[in-house]
Amino acid sequence: MKTQVAIIGGGPTGLLLSRYLAKHGVESIVIEDRSRDYVMTRIRAGMLETGTVELLDELGLADRLYKEGMEHEGIYLQWPGERHHINFKQLVGKTCWVYGQTEIQHDLHVACDAAGQEIHYEVSNVELHDMESTSPYVTFTDKDGNAQRIDCDVIAGCDGFWGVSRKSIPDVEKGTFERVYPYGWLGILARVKPSADELIYAWHPDGFALLSMRSPEVSRLYIQVDPNDDINNWPDDRIWDELDKRLALDGWTLERGEVFEKSIVAMRSFVSSTMQHGRLFLAGDSAHIVPPTGAKGLNLAVSDVRILGESLVALLNDGNEEMAATYTNRALTKIWRATHFSYWMTSMLHTTGDRFDYAMQLSQLRHVTMSRNAAANLAENYCGLPI
Ligand code: FAD
Ligand code: DHB
Repeated sequence: MKTQVAIIGGGPTGLLLSRYLAKHGVESIVIEDRSRDYVMTRIRAGMLETGTVELLDELGLADRLYKEGMEHEGIYLQWPGERHHINFKQLVGKTCWVYGQTEIQHDLHVACDAAGQEIHYEVSNVELHDMESTSPYVTFTDKDGNAQRIDCDVIAGCDGFWGVSRKSIPDVEKGTFERVYPYGWLGILARVKPSADELIYAWHPDGFALLSMRSPEVSRLYIQVDPNDDINNWPDDRIWDELDKRLALDGWTLERGEVFEKSIVAMRSFVSSTMQHGRLFLAGDSAHIVPPTGAKGLNLAVSDVRILGESLVALLNDGNEEMAATYTNRALTKIWRATHFSYWMTSMLHTTGDRFDYAMQLSQLRHVTMSRNAAANLAENYCGLPI
């Protein structure tokens, strides 16, 4: 096979990049190691920044989002006895959208199918070759067991944290930064009308809780747990009891419903400061991971796609090497900001059992909810700074 850009990974980063490139007349082939069904049904992020919605709109991918997504003007921050609204629209003139990653993945598949985008699922033995040259290539085994090769001008490594692309860069670990947190999130999807109009981020001495949503009929809720805990230790009633306790507020009731998905994820910050090696470029989770507290993972992936997309279009359509050469530095500015914001939100809201930490966290929460400047700082970061 021959194409301009071989894209490794068919998650949101890979498929969105393929759409961006196609819109600008650049061809690509996507290879993905999981099945189409698996990729389509994976439950993950839910909160989209303004800039993410703008890129989806530009690429003709926002029709359903505008119809079925929920525009939010802010979030609630709470601790026992107090719940405060942070109004992004008043503070920084921006809003956010609740629209599940699963829906975005669905919309991307529909658009890729309509455009005849070549995507190979269930591939294995993916290897990257000659990245230092201007004619790199990728080899893999297709789902029928045949050896395949894609000759290309550029390889885009969009294969997530565990993928092969980052690991193919010599000495890449020298440029990596990592923090593993002693917290996990137990997340559920429940068939019940969300009990609040906007998200509630709750500090509680027994651990953080978050009320989010996917639609007027489906709630998404999270509680802080030990990252090594087993989901089998958490029957539904125990989860609801814990949510009730951590989200409690006088005069407010958390409605319960049928839980139809539950899992535990560990939390880490990770940045690879090397995002390019010759003609290999990394984007999305293959280059960085943030803890979910700031709702930044998917949004950062989309911001990489815009920066990388522009760079590859300049390189492949106009022979302009400059933008590709500065891709890493331009992407990293936003990545470090989101990394700090996610770390800060995580540190403010997750409890450690330490009384001094409690006092610092409550002081920080009071400041963020009482000071307009502090609230505007949170709002500006949450809604996303311009690229
Ligand atoms: P991925 O979605 O990981 O996609 C990479 C793709 O590459 C995968 O489909 C994978 O199968 C494929 N792949 C891997 N190796 C290979 C290979 N060798 N060859 C071919 N294909 C390969 N973010 C938030 O903002 N809020 C959240 O609540 C949230 N929850 C999350 C929960 C979980 C369990 C995880 C893992 C992430 C979560 N995130 C969340 C982060 C967000 O989902 C990611 O930032 C986003 O999925 C990044 O997209 P991506 O396409 O870069 O990576
Ligand atoms: C969701 C996840 C987040 O990490 C977050 O900060 C807000 C919302 C969600 O899945 O809905």
